[in-house]
Amino acid sequence: MRRLGRWERCEEATAFVDLYHTENQQPDCVRRSRKRAVARDMMRHGYYEHTPEELAYGARVAWRNHARCIGRLFWNSLEVVDCRAIQCPDLIAGRAIEHLRDAGGSGKIRSIISIFAPVRGSRLREPLPPYIESQQLVRYAGYSIPGKGYLGDQANLEPTRIARAMGWKPPPSPGAFDILPIMIRDAQGRRLLYTLPSGTVREVDIEHPVHTEIAGLSLKWYTVPCISSMILTIGGIDYPCAPFNGYYMVTEIASRNLGDSLRYNMLPRVAQCLGLNPGGSTDPMWRDRALTELNTAVLYSFKRDGVTMVDHHLASEQYMMFVQREQSSGRTPSGDWSWIVPPEAAASTEVFHLSMKDRALVPNYYKSRASDGANLALNYDDEYRPRLRRHWDRLRIRLHRRLRKAK
Ligand code: ARG
Repeated sequence: MRRLGRWERCEEATAFVDLYHTENQQPDCVRRSRKRAVARDMMRHGYYEHTPEELAYGARVAWRNHARCIGRLFWNSLEVVDCRAIQCPDLIAGRAIEHLRDAGGSGKIRSIISIFAPVRGSRLREPLPPYIESQQLVRYAGYSIPGKGYLGDQANLEPTRIARAMGWKPPPSPGAFDILPIMIRDAQGRRLLYTLPSGTVREVDIEHPVHTEIAGLSLKWYTVPCISSMILTIGGIDYPCAPFNGYYMVTEIASRNLGDSLRYNMLPRVAQCLGLNPGGSTDPMWRDRALTELNTAVLYSFKRDGVTMVDHHLASEQYMMFVQREQSSGRTPSGDWSWIVPPEAAASTEVFHLSMKDRALVPNYYKSRASDGANLALNYDDEYRPRLRRHWDRLRIRLHRRLRKAK
């Protein structure tokens, strides 16, 4: 949870209520009475309850504000499922499974967020609500095989080790794409494992339209990326359990998950399939060729199976459209250049040439209080604030950030 004083929380709460009412064109009297009620609850109990509409709007704006996502043109179409009443880990796991099925369904992927119980009031008195510890609902196991290197996803060596220590059994002959169980922490901080029932996770087998040897590598990937370890913060209230999914951009799977040398490290083998010689020094660009063809294969295979996927060129165009729309709505979009620019054909996409700044606005999604959480703050550049007040706010924010980081 973010480290915020009661005043700061209250300020975020009323600013959010303001935003909600302004952007949804609500009458002024409604806004005023809601703000009063929220401020009162916040000061008394350090907590207030979002209405279902505020919750849905907050989750969408949090996406709109998240600087690292290139797919934000569609922020307003996020489907929000209110699961705040669900407190029991078994039921959270059940809903997570339903979430994956709903999102993946026919192959046309819907962007959904399931929002579970928030942190209420003072942390010392109330236990933290249960949350999902796994980074995504679907992850492939990674094994270290002494003397032989690695099998599976190297990024998940640690979760795999923990799951095994807790009694999870990999298949009799472990493979490169064994699906890990979901790990949930209950209110007392104990870990619980939930295996996804077969049929929950849809996967796409990777083949190349021309280079048939690539199918021989037996690569595949799941269709629904569902981030489950980020905390959603809306108007001073934190939701530590709020798994959300989008659909894949081709480079995420091809260039990074399969291509990275610290993940599946497939480039040398893809190069061999293409008849290139990765060891030889004659062609320093064998990696580039392997990357391009691996991207072609992943995109082709997802399209073949009718599963939603965007390529990085289209994603870049859509991001430019998002920026334009934001600007014409009078907002300045946040962007984190190193995350927005695709790892493939970078300079040929328009986003490469766009300057961006991460303004770390709230509402937002963040990973942890210490890293990105400490930077989040209200936007104090609004014109309607008197100049002196604005300067003062900015100083205050800077001071708070520094103090929080030092802790
Ligand atoms: N990059 C992550 C992965 O490869 C997924 C992150 C979310 N991606 C998305 N398209 N919504 O699994």
